[in-house]
Amino acid sequence: MTGGTGSARDFEGLLQEMIGLSSASVGASVIRHALARRMAACALPDLHAYWAHLTEHRDERQELIDCVVVPETWFFRDPEAFGAVTEHLRMRGRGRPFRLLSLPCSTGEEPYSVAMALLDAGFAKEDFIVEAVDVSIRNLAYAQRAIYGRNSFRGADLAFRDRHFEACDGGFRPHDRVRHQVRFTHGNLLEPIGFAERQPFDVVFCRNLLIYFDRETQGRAMERLGALLAPDGLLLVGPGESGLPSLHGYASTRRPRAFAFTRAAAPAAAAEAKPGTLRARRRPSLVPAPGLTATRPPAPLKPFARRMPPGGIAAPVPDAAGDDLAAARDAADAGRFGEARRAAERHATRHGPSPESLYVIGLTHDAEGDAAQAAGFYRKALYLAPEHREALAHLRLLLQRQGDHAGASALARRLARLGGKGDA
Ligand SMILES: C[S@@+](CC[C@H](N)C(=O)[O-])C[C@H]1O[C@@H](n2cnc3c(N)ncnc32)[C@H](O)[C@@H]1O
Repeated sequence: MTGGTGSARDFEGLLQEMIGLSSASVGASVIRHALARRMAACALPDLHAYWAHLTEHRDERQELIDCVVVPETWFFRDPEAFGAVTEHLRMRGRGRPFRLLSLPCSTGEEPYSVAMALLDAGFAKEDFIVEAVDVSIRNLAYAQRAIYGRNSFRGADLAFRDRHFEACDGGFRPHDRVRHQVRFTHGNLLEPIGFAERQPFDVVFCRNLLIYFDRETQGRAMERLGALLAPDGLLLVGPGESGLPSLHGYASTRRPRAFAFTRAAAPAAAAEAKPGTLRARRRPSLVPAPGLTATRPPAPLKPFARRMPPGGIAAPVPDAAGDDLAAARDAADAGRFGEARRAAERHATRHGPSPESLYVIGLTHDAEGDAAQAAGFYRKALYLAPEHREALAHLRLLLQRQGDHAGASALARRLARLGGKGDA
């Protein structure tokens, strides 16, 4: 950390350097909020004083990271991914314990879900270990405490909670047999992580982190993931990141909504297991783009959830209208795209087209691989609300996937400008 005086650009540059965070993807206001919180916590009057403080105190850099990261996660997020993993490992045989990596693991829901899925699939405790890594010490502390509230349990099927959790003060705690399968470590995807480098992993989850990186950093991250993954390993990314692996030598396993990849030269385990399964389709993000409208109530340690309304939409959605939209988002989150689209269309019929309903309809087309329809609806949403951050972000990703780099860059610039305008 050298030079700089404490301008907004200095902080954005520092965060990019430390954890790869692109201010264009997350929105400058998210970074501003984090800086304001840390300045208040350190009782410093302005950004220049805070910059000087940061240069002298390494610990404060970690505090800033903890404050700025987006910890949004829940149990069995994108549930098909876990089926892809158990299927992949079953086909490998069990000569030695399998090594799985969840990076980033956030507050622990993902690695614990992996452990539950493998136990449910009949793997014994000696058969596998889940290493869980995150750059946020605060998220790791939460993960190790392992007490989860409502916000961590989404989706219709919560039978896993009855099987693997006990009720406790403040929520639910995974049983020891689940917790003992997971080992947490502090680490950064963009830097070597000691133990992780020594032996490659059979399965690597890197979901919903790459979306926060710019293109160059995404490339570096993919290289790091390549080094961590065994030659015949399985890589899982988030829905909004599913266009990336194929640009870096991976092939989809063709399992719908699993977002699972093997190296292009290696056999796609799931596809082989089920010849004639659906053709691979790229599935874009159903996750709210980083730092944007969250669809659910905030949980502890989720400081940015719901912080920002969709850009340019001034009026809150009335209750009745909100029901259809909430149902649409919930269904989309759970991968029920048809239901999501019907709910959003119902909303549009009853209340007239709104940026949000058009955006959700676009999202469902995007998820089903219909890029032309998706782009059309995103553009309609942007026509009504030119500053709709999620529509901008998803359209940007879509154009990027299609190779329209000029169009994607133009949208990235619009997003960046938006971040600087004070939208919080
Ligand atoms: C949105 S959560 C994703 C959690 C989980 N993988 C999922 O998909 O539900 C993003 C996480 O990435 C972590 N993170 C951000 N930058 C990182 C980096 N460079 N290395 C490791 N973790 C990072 C954050 O601390 C946060 O916990």
